Amino acid sequence: MSHAAGPPPQVTVSAKAKSLTGRAVVPGDKSISHRALIMGGLSVGETTITGLLMGEDVLRTAAVMAALGAKVEESKAPEGATPQGNPIFKVWGRGIGGLTEPADILDMGNSGTGARLIAGLVSAYPFTSFMTGDASLRRRPMDRITKPLSQSGAKFTTRTGGRLPMAVTGTPIPMPLHYDSPIASAQVKSAVLLAGLHAGGITTVTEPTPSRDHTERMFRHFAVDVRVEMPRSPSDRYKVGVVGQPELTGKPINVPADPSSAAFLVVSALIVPGSHLILPNIGINPLRIGLFDTLQEMGASITYTNRREEAGEPVADIEVKYSKLKGITVPAARAPSMIDEYPILAVAASCADGETRMEGLEELKVKESDRLTAMAQGLSACGVLATAGAESLIVRGGPVKGGVTIPVQLDHRIGMSFLVLGQVSAAPIGIDDASAIATSFPDFIGLMNSLGAQISFADRRDRP
Ligand code: S3P
Repeated sequence: MSHAAGPPPQVTVSAKAKSLTGRAVVPGDKSISHRALIMGGLSVGETTITGLLMGEDVLRTAAVMAALGAKVEESKAPEGATPQGNPIFKVWGRGIGGLTEPADILDMGNSGTGARLIAGLVSAYPFTSFMTGDASLRRRPMDRITKPLSQSGAKFTTRTGGRLPMAVTGTPIPMPLHYDSPIASAQVKSAVLLAGLHAGGITTVTEPTPSRDHTERMFRHFAVDVRVEMPRSPSDRYKVGVVGQPELTGKPINVPADPSSAAFLVVSALIVPGSHLILPNIGINPLRIGLFDTLQEMGASITYTNRREEAGEPVADIEVKYSKLKGITVPAARAPSMIDEYPILAVAASCADGETRMEGLEELKVKESDRLTAMAQGLSACGVLATAGAESLIVRGGPVKGGVTIPVQLDHRIGMSFLVLGQVSAAPIGIDDASAIATSFPDFIGLMNSLGAQISFADRRDRP
C-alpha cells in the first residue's frame, strides 16, 4: 500500500444517517479469492474466476502467482455477467510441482492470508523466495507456519520474533506432514495443506475447533481427495487429510460475496432506525457466519433467501431490517466462525440494551492491528463503556458521543467499524486514514453513501 509517500491521508468523517435502504452488491470473498488464484496457478489449463475481490490483498496474490510462473489475465466481463461489472480473471497454471523461482521479492502488502498461504506453497519447491509486506504485516507472527512447515525440510529465515521479511528455501522432496495445530487457524491449516498437495502421501492437520474450511471446499472443487473428520464431542479435534500430488485441471469458479464485508452493511442496517437492506449472493458457509448467528440471538431481523451453492460454497441473499438489540454473552467456542467480525460486533453491542461479553479473543491481538485494544480504546474515546481483558471484551450499550478521530493503524476493519458507529453517534466520528479499507472493500464509502450514509472527507483542521 502507498502509505509512505505523498500527502498525509485525509480524515474521513461519518455523520448521522437517517436510514439505509436498498439493494447492495458486496464485493467478492477475500478468503475464497486468494484460494481461487492459488489453485488456478497449480492447475493445468484454464481457471476462470468470476466475482474475484478486486481488493489490494487479493491483487497481491494474483501478482505473486504470476511471479511464480502462472499466467494471470484480467479481462472485461460481458455486460451484466459480474457484480459491479468487475473483470473476469483467467489463470493458466503450471500443475503441481510446476511453479518456478520468483525473480524478485514477493510483497504481500497487508495480507496475512496471502503471506501464510504462499509461504506454505513455496515451502514445497526447491528454490528460495523472499517475502515481505507493509508495516502491519511485518509486525505479525510467521512462526505459526514456519514451525510446522520446517518439519518437511523447508528452511525459513525470519527477523526476530518470527517476523517478515523472510526467506524461504523450499524442500526438493516434500514429505507428507501431520500437524496438531494449537490454534484454530485457517491460515495455518491451509499453509500445511497447500504444502501437502505437493507431497507423495496423505498430509493431515488437526485443530481444536474447525476454522473456516474454504481450502477443503476449494480442493474438492478441483477434485482433490479430501478427508474430513468433524469433532464428535467438545473435547474432540477437527481433522482434515489431503492426498498429495493430484493432477489438477483448471475449473470455473464463481466467488460469492464476502460475509465479513457484508457484516458492515448488516450492522449499519440494524442500528440506523428505519433501515432495510437486501444483500444478494452472500457466502453463508457455517464456519463464517458466527456474527449473523450472534446478531440473531441479540434480536436482529436477518433472513436468508434463495439458498444455493457456488463452487462448493453455500450462498444466499440476505435481508436485514433495523432491530432493537439486546446484549448477550458470546462463547469462546464461536470465535473461529466470526474471528474477523468482533470489531463490528462491538459496534452493534454499543447500540444494544445491556452488556455484551465476548470471550476467547486472544487471536484478535495478532490481526492487522491489535483489535482487542483498538476497539476498547476507540469505543471508550467515543463515550462507550468498553473494557478489554486478556482474552475478552465487554461492551455496555448506551448513547454514543463520538466527536473524535480514531487511528486506523493500517487496519481496514477498524476503519470501517468506526465509520459505521459514526452513523448513530451524537457528534460525527472520523478515521485518520481510510486507505486501508481498499484491502478488502474498495468502494465501501461510495456504496454506503449510495444507501443513505453521510460519509465525507474533511480538511484535517475540521476533523472531529
Ligand atoms: C483467513 C483466516 C482467518 C481470518 C483471515 C482470513 C483465511 O485467520 O482472520 O482474515 O482466509 O484463511 P485465521 O488464520 O486466524 O483463521
